[in-house]
Amino acid sequence: MALTSELGKQIKLKEVEGTLLQLATVDNWSQIQSFQAKPDDLLICTYPKAGTTWIQEIVDMIEQNGDVEKCQRAIIQQRHPFIEWARPPQPSETGFHHVAQASFKLLSSSNPRSSAYQSAKITDLLPPSFWENNCKFLYVARNAKDCMVSYYHFQRMNHKLPDPGTWEEYFETFINGKVVWGSWFDHVKGWWEMKDRYQILFLFYEDIKRDPKHEIQKVMKFMGKNLDETVLDKIVQETSFEKMKENPMTNRSTVSKSIMDQSISPFMRKGTVGDWKNHFTVAQNERFDEIYRKKMEGTSINFCMEL
Ligand code: A3P
Repeated sequence: MALTSELGKQIKLKEVEGTLLQLATVDNWSQIQSFQAKPDDLLICTYPKAGTTWIQEIVDMIEQNGDVEKCQRAIIQQRHPFIEWARPPQPSETGFHHVAQASFKLLSSSNPRSSAYQSAKITDLLPPSFWENNCKFLYVARNAKDCMVSYYHFQRMNHKLPDPGTWEEYFETFINGKVVWGSWFDHVKGWWEMKDRYQILFLFYEDIKRDPKHEIQKVMKFMGKNLDETVLDKIVQETSFEKMKENPMTNRSTVSKSIMDQSISPFMRKGTVGDWKNHFTVAQNERFDEIYRKKMEGTSINFCMEL
């Protein structure tokens, strides 16, 4: 495992299977890998900045039948702990489903070991018990350009992540997959290719933005719940960007400034589709589209780039 030290912030990262991860995650690797999932567990999986917090809040609102007070019981990081950060890795306290969150990529098809899936010997960054128990997975994908922009601003304000440098520098870092949790392309492609082989509900950030009620209904059905229209409408309202930006249980305002400095960039930043247009130059956009075509070749996935 290679060790990368970013000078400015002295952030140490290590590689696992070619993916950069935070040192604290790698140091606990065997514990994380031995996490025992249960058959009724639901795992929320996302690439960073794809709308993790949003889907977490949606899932909890559904789980709590739209009860806002119950969703105020703890900050979202405690209601749906990240498997890669919890010490020791643990499921959430939620009763019915154990809902945890992970940002681990699957092996992409370009990886020579991906054929291992056919023989059910699944070896990727996710703890194997999730596959062994045929758990449900909820994956949210967001278009790469908006993810890049969101991640850039997140790295500027998050003192536990490397300094992103200038936008031009970050553009190179991101397209080369040299960010924490690895390449957007590998992550999204890996989960997309797996979606019909396991119980994976694959959602798009842009679809939730366009028609939240429709997508929330999909999540509800996937969770085996049945809520009436008024509850659904309430969940749509309570999980809107504006509400979540003001909600201390979702907006990270309880996180110390020494970890996340929201005066640099708020955690709930813009919550829109197409902010990439305010960042990408024409040349960067052309170059990105070319790289995207090559890296995503043969994939049927389609992203909405603006609403
Ligand atoms: P922006 O930086 O583009 O605003 P994650 O939770 O995976 O870290 O993702 C954070 C991104 O999701 C941020 O994107 C944030 O604003 C956006 N987001 C969070 N809650 C949202 C909501 N309710 N509606 C739309 N976007 C939301």
